[in-house]
Amino acid sequence: MRDDLIRSYDTFSLQLPTKNIGHPLVFFESCLSTNTACFQEAERGASHGTLVLADSQTSGRGRKGRAWYSPRGKNLYFSILLTQLPVQSGISWIPLVTGLALTETLEKITSLAFSLKWPNDILFKNKKMAGILCECKQAGKAGSACVVGVGININSTYGDFSPDLSEIATSLFIECQFPFNRSVVLTSFLEKFESYYENLLKSGAHSMKIPYTRRCSTIGRQIRIELMTGESIQGIAVGIGDEGELLVSESEKSSESLVVKVREGDVIHLR
Ligand code: BTN
Repeated sequence: MRDDLIRSYDTFSLQLPTKNIGHPLVFFESCLSTNTACFQEAERGASHGTLVLADSQTSGRGRKGRAWYSPRGKNLYFSILLTQLPVQSGISWIPLVTGLALTETLEKITSLAFSLKWPNDILFKNKKMAGILCECKQAGKAGSACVVGVGININSTYGDFSPDLSEIATSLFIECQFPFNRSVVLTSFLEKFESYYENLLKSGAHSMKIPYTRRCSTIGRQIRIELMTGESIQGIAVGIGDEGELLVSESEKSSESLVVKVREGDVIHLR
């Protein structure tokens, strides 16, 4: 399925109503990874808000070095270059704010209820609809840069997914049984993201805590977290800290002294 977005990405770019986010647009029929391409743009001095969009990726990356399934003509794969960055702890809120904007966008477009699993997995009935990979580093002429990479399963069908993926992933088409126009989804997301990101820059991370906590289905759940060290911890997710970390009470009853802060890991909702 090749929709308007790919046939006329230049028109899409001209009509995009955002101020900075999405301008300019760099489009690839195919690239290795839009995150990699976006950092290359940064090295060459690309401006804040530059959007790298691809119709397919040959080495799409997920968190923890996993691959991101990126077939041609079906879904959205894009990365946004951010060089105007929030101060210190605000940076760790970028992936969370992206997840918040994405959840709200998908709910508005489909009227379905999505859940946001900490830090930024967008799930529908426990299956993954979208993923976010945020990477920050020094990037040549751009200086300190963060690249926010987003993959949204839009028009993939069951048959497109390998059997192991169809157990854990879904798409808007699979859930709604009709195709979606990728440019509509992308425009809506970029507008929402710009508004949240401006808020993060102006008002800081504390302004994001309440809307994020309200949307995050991990809070209040019994969870297990597989940490980067290979260890795992189990407990109740009791809140979000100032730096976007997950606060986990390791006892059944929440007690201040037993609350641990988790900055990175894979969360499994137990009940
Ligand atoms: C995850 O949930 O593991 C994150 C997946 C992020 C995938 C997107 S697709 C566009 C961008 N380019 C990449 O290589 N990865 C991100």
